[in-house]
Amino acid sequence: PPLGRILSLADFESLAQLVLSHKAWAYYSSSADTTSANVENARAFSRFFFNPRVMRPVRDCSPATKILGFDSSLPLFVSGAALAKLGHPLGEANITRGAHKGGIIQMVSSNASLSFAEVAAAAEPGQTLFFQLYKHTDDSLAVKRVREIESLGYKAIFLTVDALTAGKRECDVRAPWVLEDMENGPAYHVEGGPADIADDGGTAGALVGADDQNMTWEKTIPWLRSITKLPLVIKGVQCLEDAVLAAEAGCDGILISNHGGRQLDYSMPPLETLYRIRKRRPDLFDKMEIYIDGGARRGTDVVKAICLGAKAVGMGRPFLYAQSCYGADGVAKAISILDSEIVKAMKFLGAAKIEDLVPEMVERVDWQAK
Ligand code: FNR
Repeated sequence: PPLGRILSLADFESLAQLVLSHKAWAYYSSSADTTSANVENARAFSRFFFNPRVMRPVRDCSPATKILGFDSSLPLFVSGAALAKLGHPLGEANITRGAHKGGIIQMVSSNASLSFAEVAAAAEPGQTLFFQLYKHTDDSLAVKRVREIESLGYKAIFLTVDALTAGKRECDVRAPWVLEDMENGPAYHVEGGPADIADDGGTAGALVGADDQNMTWEKTIPWLRSITKLPLVIKGVQCLEDAVLAAEAGCDGILISNHGGRQLDYSMPPLETLYRIRKRRPDLFDKMEIYIDGGARRGTDVVKAICLGAKAVGMGRPFLYAQSCYGADGVAKAISILDSEIVKAMKFLGAAKIEDLVPEMVERVDWQAK
């Protein structure tokens, strides 16, 4: 259909299933084991209801905000997801161009299918890009990577800490292919595949290489601080205790995430973790920026998290799907849909600016459990 007919992120998703190769769909959509973590990420949003305020002036309503001090037109960013070229020949550059048009920030994956220089080259002057780091076991290789992305102008590091081994994503493992030569971009053999399937034999298994499995708060954070001045966010924090440790370690932020349910099955939905942190340690929100990703698909989803104190919400799959269907225009359209949904939700809530979104505006109600 023409892009103008796309009304919601769900439309991109259904269309992506039609246009993507079997393997690409399996890789993008899959999640771990029973897929419960992924399903529950989205369902968590449906347990939170709004208490709107009326009779408040909202004609001039702005969803603009800052993330780590960088301007963003929305409290939304692109979470780094690997292998955009699987869905579209221009790959991550589509997301870069679409993000620029929509005024939001793209976090570029360590496993991007374009080089970090190619992604940077697709950016407009002044456009903000963040970098998602998988830390190599060999410190010197990690230093080299950090130097590279610093010199290319990436503005922050999101260190992923929830992917020390590959999640068991069965759809992806079953869909046959061989991933070759990441240096030159992936090449695909759709036929065949090994006779015996290893449980981490999917794309995730091929991508997880020599990631450092011995990172610690005490050692890794000071070490990273010693090699770079870029702001540091820990991606994959999943409980209150680790949020406290991240704040104590002086991190600039945490991204509460279970990797879109692709790693540990039955890991807590990020929105629920955010809610728990808000209830028990509201002071943490003043010490560092807290973001979530996983399962957010609507403007109201974003607004719920912002009410609970998140500085911004990340999305992974929706941008992969949008670029697979329509390239950069699809990404820009996805952002404009979310913009419109977020502004509507803010107006209905009586919020003219991001700071007007407060915890009292959302309530967790589990009707089923009552
Ligand atoms: C990811 N994610 C991810 N995270 C990361 O730190 N490095 C990576 O290379 C990838 N790669 C990746 C590939 C694909 C296909 C997906 C779907 C996800 C996780 C990603 O950053 C983010 O946490 C989730 O995608 C958020 O969940 P939603 O928005 O996809 O539900």
